[in-house]
Amino acid sequence: MKKHFETDAIRNQTEKSQFSEHSTPLYLTSGFVFDDAEEMRASFAEEKERNLYSRFSNPNTTEFVDKVVAMEGAEAGFAFATGMSAIFSTFASILNAGDHVVSCRSVFGSTHSMFTKYLPKWNITTSYFKVNEVDLVESLIQPNTKVLYIETPTNPAVDILDLELIGNIAKKHNLIFIVDNCFATPYIQQPIKFGADLVIHSATKLMDGQGRVLGGVTVGSKDLIRELYLFARNTGPAMSPFNAWVLSKSLETLSLRVEKHCQNAIEVAAFLEGNEKLNFVKYPFLKSHPQHEIAKKQMKLGGNIVAFEIKGGIEAGRKFLNNIKMCSLSANLGDTRTIVTHPASTTHGRLSEEDRLEVGITDGLVRCSIGLENVDDIIKDLNQALNNS
Ligand SMILES: Cc1ncc(COP(=O)(O)O)c(C=O)c1O
Repeated sequence: MKKHFETDAIRNQTEKSQFSEHSTPLYLTSGFVFDDAEEMRASFAEEKERNLYSRFSNPNTTEFVDKVVAMEGAEAGFAFATGMSAIFSTFASILNAGDHVVSCRSVFGSTHSMFTKYLPKWNITTSYFKVNEVDLVESLIQPNTKVLYIETPTNPAVDILDLELIGNIAKKHNLIFIVDNCFATPYIQQPIKFGADLVIHSATKLMDGQGRVLGGVTVGSKDLIRELYLFARNTGPAMSPFNAWVLSKSLETLSLRVEKHCQNAIEVAAFLEGNEKLNFVKYPFLKSHPQHEIAKKQMKLGGNIVAFEIKGGIEAGRKFLNNIKMCSLSANLGDTRTIVTHPASTTHGRLSEEDRLEVGITDGLVRCSIGLENVDDIIKDLNQALNNS
């Protein structure tokens, strides 16, 4: 019987042990035992479905993966130590030497490094399109193109890409369409509905939601996940059972947390819009967002990231950060605590101005990951920091 999102997140549970516990225990074991040689043979030959070794599977990671599979409407999945190991393993399992990728330029920094520094080692090349150049995507496709890749909303400029439009291009050209859905979470957006073959998450962000553990997960079609499983089983990037246990518990409250994050975020965005110290405020569910209509089409809520540009460039951005009293200055996002970053002077400080502008990072751009504190306190802190900047 098909269940609702929240019910899947709570009731998808590992089978009870002989102790009839209500909450799934932590299975801290590297391996599993067999009754006899025949059981061991049949298990390794995959004639029997069971846990063999925690690099391959473990009850805690299986529970976490099963929840994400249900939430995203996928067929299968695999959990990784980090979001980046999910991304690298996914590409490594699909691509062969000489293949080509088409990707939006606005991708997470380490994903950009993978495309430009590491995949070229195997003669795998990537062509980029900018967020406002979706009409160029088809012209970038080559005979050896295998994957079309995007993130939406993008990090840190919260631009929105049209999943349906890009999904249709991937289908028309028989490309594997992969979406990093980390900023939205499956509660807000389910890319498989729009034609994605694989969906990747850094579970470190809103899935954990409390800034405690790292994790990653890829879900999608059975055939592609089978290849990914075999790659991961042999190369070893699996999520630890402890992190899977933490993350599976976190998913039980994902819908509630994301609802509140988004409610706080839109209140903050609406408060800041029109402030005379800012050039613009960008939030997908504000009418002023350049891709607001697309956001409304594919997202249930606007997410927890608000971006704005302070007048006065890099110095004004640094000053704003120095004036913050309550919010955290940290590189993470999707935490209960509101986090403020100034990409031009920190995470993207080593990029040239031209490279930064390509991904929407202007000198005064500030990214706020809105947390779950009382929204009045978040607004008060941002407002006093702006007034003193
Ligand atoms: C959109 C996006 N994808 C992937 C990652 C990488 O995740 P992790 O830090 O868990 O490796 C991040 C991290 O910030 C991210 O923001």
